[in-house]
Amino acid sequence: MMGAGGASDDCRERRCVHCAAMKSVVILISGRGSNMRSIVQACDAERWNARIGAVVSNRPEAAGLENARSRGIATAVVDHRQFASRDAFDAELARTIDALAPDIVALAGFMRILGDAFVRRYEGRLLNIHPSLLPAFPGLRTHERALAAGCKVTGATVHFVTPQLDHGPIVIQAAVPVLAGDTPDTLGARVLEREHLIYPRAVRWLVDEKLRIEDGRVRQLDGEPQLDF
Ligand code: GRF
Repeated sequence: MMGAGGASDDCRERRCVHCAAMKSVVILISGRGSNMRSIVQACDAERWNARIGAVVSNRPEAAGLENARSRGIATAVVDHRQFASRDAFDAELARTIDALAPDIVALAGFMRILGDAFVRRYEGRLLNIHPSLLPAFPGLRTHERALAAGCKVTGATVHFVTPQLDHGPIVIQAAVPVLAGDTPDTLGARVLEREHLIYPRAVRWLVDEKLRIEDGRVRQLDGEPQLDF
């Protein structure tokens, strides 16, 4: 199968046995989608045994959607403003995702809080990236808060999603030093660069079934480092 995220760029046979065996990754975004891009690029460049099934956004104007389309990736929009309740939005989002039958769902700058039922539905195959060293600074404005707290190091975390916001078993973290004179923007830019390294790594581990959750902690079965610094 062609398009971004194919293990074989030469394969054009839709019923190819190899392609049918590939894992499908659906990526959820709300905005520019730079983490989405890093996953798509790694999937192609490293020839993962996976393809990007679709990019789904809750905002029709999300810049990442156009980028995904330009790479030949299917896109879908479930606009949260069209729904009267969070449950109704979650239900339609789940319906859209289930129609794509993904093995993995990656939240990449997806800025909606998802309800318990949604999270439980994808438990163990739902990843998120957060721009802090969790459990420090869950929620918004992480770089501003890290600076205000006088942190000397901050970073980013990829974790399995659980019903509690920005919690859940930690897959990999990147540690980023806070420099004198940093602003939320300069610090955020350095953290983002590292996000682009660790998120594809985490998704690939999940594609390759290299992760095991034991007592709420994630073990990388090949012993690869789960800290990037
Ligand atoms: C990233 O910093 C991510 O950690 C956070 O939202 C931002 C999304 O950026 N959850 P992008 O849309 O991937 O460029």
